[in-house]
Parts: sequence; structure tokens; C-alpha cells
Amino acid sequence: MSKQDKAEERIEKLRAKINRHNHLYHVLDSPEISDAAYDELMLELRRLEEQYPQFMTTDSPTQRVGAAPIEAFGIVEHPLPLLSLGNAFSQQELLAWNERTSRMLAGQQASFVCEHKIDGLAVALTYVDRRLVVGATRGDGYRGENITQNLRTVRSIPLSVPREAPPRFEVRGEVFMPKAGFDKLNRERAEAGQPLFANPRNAAAGSVRQLDPRITATRPLDIYIYMLGYAEGRATPDSHWQTLEYLKSLGFKVNPHNRQCNDILQVEDYYNTWMEKREELPYQADGIVVKIDLVGFQEKLGSIGHEPRWAIAYKFPAVQGNTVLKEIKISVGRTGTLNPYAVLEPVSIGGVTIKQAALHNEDDIRRKDIREEDTVIVQRAGEVIPQVIGPVISRRTGKEKPFSLVDKLYNHKKGRALCPICGAEVFKSEGEVMYYCPNAACPAQMQQRLEHFASRGAMDIRGIGDKMSALLFREKVVKDFADVYYLKEKRDKLLGIDRMAAKSIDNLIQAIEKSKQRPLPRLIYALGIRQIGGETAEILAGEFDSLGSLAGATRDKLTSIHTIGPRIADSVAAFFSNEGNKEIIEKLRRAGVLPPAEKETSPEELPLSGMEFVITGRLDGLSRQEAESRIKSHGGTAKSDITRNTNYLVVGAEPGSKLARAQSLDIKQINEQELLRLLDKNA
Ligand code: IVH
Repeated sequence: MSKQDKAEERIEKLRAKINRHNHLYHVLDSPEISDAAYDELMLELRRLEEQYPQFMTTDSPTQRVGAAPIEAFGIVEHPLPLLSLGNAFSQQELLAWNERTSRMLAGQQASFVCEHKIDGLAVALTYVDRRLVVGATRGDGYRGENITQNLRTVRSIPLSVPREAPPRFEVRGEVFMPKAGFDKLNRERAEAGQPLFANPRNAAAGSVRQLDPRITATRPLDIYIYMLGYAEGRATPDSHWQTLEYLKSLGFKVNPHNRQCNDILQVEDYYNTWMEKREELPYQADGIVVKIDLVGFQEKLGSIGHEPRWAIAYKFPAVQGNTVLKEIKISVGRTGTLNPYAVLEPVSIGGVTIKQAALHNEDDIRRKDIREEDTVIVQRAGEVIPQVIGPVISRRTGKEKPFSLVDKLYNHKKGRALCPICGAEVFKSEGEVMYYCPNAACPAQMQQRLEHFASRGAMDIRGIGDKMSALLFREKVVKDFADVYYLKEKRDKLLGIDRMAAKSIDNLIQAIEKSKQRPLPRLIYALGIRQIGGETAEILAGEFDSLGSLAGATRDKLTSIHTIGPRIADSVAAFFSNEGNKEIIEKLRRAGVLPPAEKETSPEELPLSGMEFVITGRLDGLSRQEAESRIKSHGGTAKSDITRNTNYLVVGAEPGSKLARAQSLDIKQINEQELLRLLDKNA
């Protein structure tokens, strides 16, 4: 076979392979290979097509910008196509790009704007006469889906813009799901037995392509605008950086981590900094985007195929890898859930050695057909706990074993499946996917219940984390979380424990005393009642003025509350009728854990009542004092520091460290315009 024939054959093989993986990923939502392996296939194909242009076809996967649009949404023709980006996978490729562009600019020195390449989906938003009229997906670059109604539910997308905006324009940006929201959504889906999303990008794409916008509205979506598509009737700035500033001034959310770079060395610095710190970001980023700043230069460079020459995606190394799943083990969660997890052949992913990964629930394991001894795809990106994405079917040898939780926990002598920690018989209620250990006194549960009780969103007892909690149980100084309020009587015993200094014991006791005054919603949340998260705890606290009255509430009384369904009502009733829990509540009462009664809420409550704002950076139109007093006059409070209770961070020019803190706590950020609109709307 000639070299040409060989190339042609390889090209066809690669196309078939890539098409298959595209289908697995985008349609079936169950990839078999890692993103990095996929990128490699694409790269090989692209190189071969460049080398042998005679074999290029219009339906090659390299010629496709994205998935074809779905008719159900209605099709939007993009007046200006939405381009894709070329990739650089190494410093060498970045420098080669820089050289190509400098050559085309005849040696004129270009400067750059660097941005994070967020893993979400591209959307185009069209505004006419100050109003958002169309929001569309990229689709194939020329035609996308009309998902306006869904995008309207994304709170960081302005529905209208100020008078200074051009009469007709389009902006483009990335809709994404922050990591914290993604983890929470998947946890909830795992508990409800729904299929899980493979990664935040799939979750974001799945969320905006819902046929019912009410579902989209419940999903934690956000957006960063990264460019202006076109603008009619107004002159726009002549550099990308200034354009972003301009878009910010119109109320759009622009990534505060964007940077201007004067030369390619600064670009490399930016890349290296974020490659190291990317785990700290509240969203998943798979690289940076480098853009040539001057619009004049961009025009000169133009584009080739679907890719502009003036921008490039410089990818971070992979955070997925393949390894062997040695065994599926089971841990006991705080509420007694029996959680399967994967014990892996250690594998280094993105510089971190991974030995274990989450598996969520039995249904999910079955659906993905993950078996012991399978070679699996493991992903570390973003999630606190690495995830098993799925098996690599082509590596099966036949000795892989399908998983059954009951088989795993089956005790032949007793003829039943037993909790791996305390030996109680496991159960599963009808309609649920999780098995439970029913023993509330199971040491595994008790320890985690204390950890939860003391956590930041709950009673916030500094000094009690996972280690201290384990120690207190191990040393038998507590039997349940209520016992921490009696620790002061055991000061001597604590002193006898290895490495506990008197000072730290006193600090701990002081922190415990302080927590007695936490408000009722926190105490309700801290109890760790199944199905009761922070929000539901707030609702319950709004209805009942004390723990006592909540404990005495009937199921009917509970279900009569708007948003409280039968599942929550059952869970609350079951919790308070359990003897062990009753004892705990009594201990709390005797120790004087008495949350201050919530103040009466008047019917004419002010529109921003209960909302906490923090301001960072310099505001343009308002002084900080003015902004704070207007927030207060609308019923809100203005605080100087970010806490978990902060509702909004108002971000001005040159924001300080509060921004990073707000991002890490997933607190909503708004700019000055959005604040004004919020005040206006409620004037
Ligand atoms: S600019 C002409 N900037 O990456 C330039 N894209 O393959 C077009 N993306 O479709 C895109 N973050 O979905 C740009 N800061 C950023 C981005 C970004 C993520 C995505 C976007 C685009 C894809 C390119």
C-alpha cells in the first residue's frame, strides 16, 4: 500500500472512531474515552487532513463546530457565525501560533487578552431596543437552537440594558454550572435515582436545553460574556479589552480573572498561574483563551475555516485518566445511606495520585454498567471527590463482576445484608434508590452527624472538624452530638488525651458555648434530618417558632406548608419520633441550646428584607456610602465581610480579595448596574 493509501485508510478509521465517540458523549451521555484521548484523535485527524488535503470532506468531524441544533426549540440563524477555536496543547504550539500571527502582522507587536476557557456552552444573546430578544445555542455555528426562555432564567443574564447600549447588538459568552452547584445537583440526583451528569459542561448543556424553562430555573447556572458579536448604530471600542469593559458597563458579567498581557511571556505566566490554581476556581476551566487585543489586528488576521487566526485555546493537561477499578466498597453516610465507592489501582491524574472515586448509587452503577475489575475513566476536574465516569468496554476481558449492594453486604450466617460498620440489617424504602443503615446510633453515622452539626452552615463550632469528631468518639467522650455541650464537665479527661493542650481545649469549649445562640434555621439544619437542607430549614423555621413546636407538628400540619411535600413531612416526623433523637433534643434543651426567637415579620416587609450585601471595589455612579444607605432603605443589610449568609457581592472596579472568597462560597456577584436595577425594581 502506498503512503497515500495508508493515510486515506487511517483518515477514514479516525473519522469513524471520532464520530462514534461524539455520539457516545453528546447523545448517549456516556463517554468511553477521556477528553484528552479524544483530543488526541482529533489532532491526528486534523494533521493528516492538512497533509493530505485531497482527502478532506465537508462531513469530516473536524469541519463541525458543534452538535446540530434540535428542531423542537426553533432554529435561530446566526447573522455572524459562531466560530470555534484552534487548540495549543504545549508551549511549543503556543509559540508557533505567536510566530505565525506576528509574521502575518508584519512584525507589528500585538498585545493579548487572556481569559479562562470555561467548560460550559457557548450562547449568543441578541438585544434589540434595550431588551433581550433572542438567546441561542451555537448549534453548528451557523444555526443554533432558540433557548431564549431558558436563558431568561439565568440570573446573571441581563434582560434589559441601559439606554447607552447600541440599538441592536449581540454578545457571546459561556453558560456554565459552577462546581459546587454541579456537585449538589448530582448528589440530589443520586439520591433521587436519576441519571447523573458526567461533568459540569454536560449538566449546563442539559439544563439550558430543557423543554420546560421551570426546570432550567432550578439549575445553578451562571454566565461570563467573552465577546461582542456585532453592534449596530453605535461605535464600539477598537480593542477586545475595552470592549469587555464596555460590556461590563452595560451590565454584563465579565470574568474578573481576564488579564491584559503585553507579550507572549506574560501569556505563559497567566497560563502557568492558572494551571496551578485551577482547582481553586469555582468553575471548571480546561485551559485559557488567548486573544489578540486590537480589533484592527483581528480583522487583518481573519479566520481559516471555523477558526479565527487571532485567538487560540491553550489547553491545560488532562484531568481524566484510565485505571483499573479493583473493588467497590461501601461507606456509611451521615444519614445512614450506604454509599458505594471505587477502590482504584492508583493513577496520577493532573499531578495528583487518585486511589478512590465516588460511585453515587447502585442504579447509577448499573446504568453505566461499571463492574469490579473494569478499566474505568476517572475524572478529577473540579469535583472535590474524583468520579468514575464509566467503563472502557473495549478493555473487557470477561472476568469483570457486575455489582450488587446486597450481595456485597450479605452475611451468610444471618441470611441478610448487614451494615458494614455496625451490623444492623440494611433496608431500602419503596421508590428510593439508596439503601440505609437504620441504626441511628451506628458509630459511622454518629461521627458524621457531629461533623455536620458543627459545620460552618450549621452550628459553626470552630475546632470540630473530621479529625476532632473522630477523636471525641474514639476516646468515648461523646456518644452523640448533643454531648459536646457537656464537654466542659470532662475537661480533665480531655487533658489526658494525647496532644490536647489546655489552651485548645478551652478555646473549643468556648466555641461550643458560643454556638448555643445560633438562630433556629441553623439548629434545624444542624440536626441532620434526612431531606432537610439549609433552605428547607429556613422554611420550617419561618413556620415554627421553636424546635419544640416543630417536633410536635403533625404530618398534616407539615404538608400544609407550601413547598413541604410528603417525603419531607415523613422524614421530619420520623426524626422526632425516634427515641434516640428525642434524647438528643432533650440534652440540647437541658444544655440551654436556645436559639433566639426570630423577629416577627410584618406583612409590609421591605423588598430586600433579609438580604445581605457586601461591596468590593470602586463603584462608578454611587459612593459606597450611598450604595449602602440605599440597600438599607430597601430593607437589606450592608456588611463588610463575606460570610455564608451573604446574598450578593456587588463588584466594582478593581475588586479586592472578597471576590475570590465570594467565588469560593458560590455567592452571587452583581455589578453596579445590576444593583441599581434591583433597587429600581423595588423602588
Ligand atoms: S472565544 C472566536 N472565549 O470555547 C472566538 N470561547 O472552541 C470564539 N469558550 O465555543 C470563542 N471560554 O464555548 C472564547 N473565554 C472564552 C471562552 C470560550 C470558553 C468556549 C466557547 C467556544 C469554545 C471554542
